[in-house]
Amino acid sequence: MRLYFPHNFLWGSSISSYQTEGGNIYSDWFLWEKEQGLEHAGASANHYKFFKEDIEIASSLSHNAFRFSLEWSRIYPHKDRFNEVGFKHYEDVISTLKKYNITPVVTLHHFTNPIWYTKEGGWLNHKLIDYFLCYVRKAVSLLKDNVKYWIIFNEPVVYVYNGFLEGIWPPGLKSTKEALRALRNILRAYILSYQEIKRIYADKKSFLSIAKNMRVFIPCFYLNFGQNNLFSFIRSRFFNFYVLDYLYKNRCLDFIGLNYYCGEFTKANFSLWGRECTDAHHKLKRNDLGWLVFPSGLYNLLVRLRNYNLPIVITENGTVTPLDEEYASFMISHIESVAKAINDGVDVRGYFWWSLLDNFEWDKGYSCRFGLVDVDFNNFSRKIKPFALKYRDICRNNFIDIENVD
Ligand code: BGC
Repeated sequence: MRLYFPHNFLWGSSISSYQTEGGNIYSDWFLWEKEQGLEHAGASANHYKFFKEDIEIASSLSHNAFRFSLEWSRIYPHKDRFNEVGFKHYEDVISTLKKYNITPVVTLHHFTNPIWYTKEGGWLNHKLIDYFLCYVRKAVSLLKDNVKYWIIFNEPVVYVYNGFLEGIWPPGLKSTKEALRALRNILRAYILSYQEIKRIYADKKSFLSIAKNMRVFIPCFYLNFGQNNLFSFIRSRFFNFYVLDYLYKNRCLDFIGLNYYCGEFTKANFSLWGRECTDAHHKLKRNDLGWLVFPSGLYNLLVRLRNYNLPIVITENGTVTPLDEEYASFMISHIESVAKAINDGVDVRGYFWWSLLDNFEWDKGYSCRFGLVDVDFNNFSRKIKPFALKYRDICRNNFIDIENVD
């Protein structure tokens, strides 16, 4: 059966500044890599230099939309000093997108902060929220004529979990109290930014949201199914819905940005949250990072999100594998789930593959290749992967043929 996507559906891919641009030496991640002895992002995919070529590639792949983030530390490398040159780069990116008729979706915060910000307490210091707002005000005022879609924060829960609870990302803390404080300040910053952006756009239309990472939590069916079920519920409430419900109740979501990668088998344990069960007896396929490949979970989540009565954009979906056919089957099966959800009345407006380019995967360095385009990190040459052409055909056709719609 042939399932069509809505007219003007956004088809594209996502990147983030720190992971692809290279040379972001004023970012707290730059310092963190040095302090922790991690692999350096260095020049990354050198997208800062090659953005025109990269956008041309996206256009050749029939993408009509592109999600990227602004590097706050490039724009405000020092506390009170706006960097014209750093900022001009993003104006150039947006005018290049315009030339190719590609809709920009711009993220304001994708995990990284300026070094000065983190040194002064970062998201633990509520007095610094004004500096984030100052950056938001400046960036949005200057770009508003050519941007309609803004993602104010990428995955706040993942960011806080890794940086403040697990301590594997900067600022490297391991404290529930600090994690909750950081999350509170981020949510406060989100709401104030939302209000500020609406004020800047006045009666012009803008679409604002977060990119919310969601997983499908499946109770592990060995031993204690009842308890595992309860812990899956708790994990899902906190990881998937707490932030979303909070922002929804505060009326500051214009759509839902959904980052979906995997499912997770959940087991009860002595912590409040339970834990992931990675036992081999679960037969579902896992990708190279051990993430459970679970395309029907995307359908289930989309149907569940219908209750919010807001449009939904899949702001990230992707995988890591050495095999092109596995990229292709992951991509096709997830897009099929999106098509089925639309067919069942869910208002999905776009789909973005993570990522356009192979890039720097945070604490895992360069070993994970999520890109539609292979990057040689020595000479920055680009090579389109075969599965990207299959994605191109779907973007171009705006439909997908599905064997079994049930
Ligand atoms: C993040 C990206 C990251 C991707 C793959 C998402 O959660 O937004 O920055 O590279 O997952 O791990």
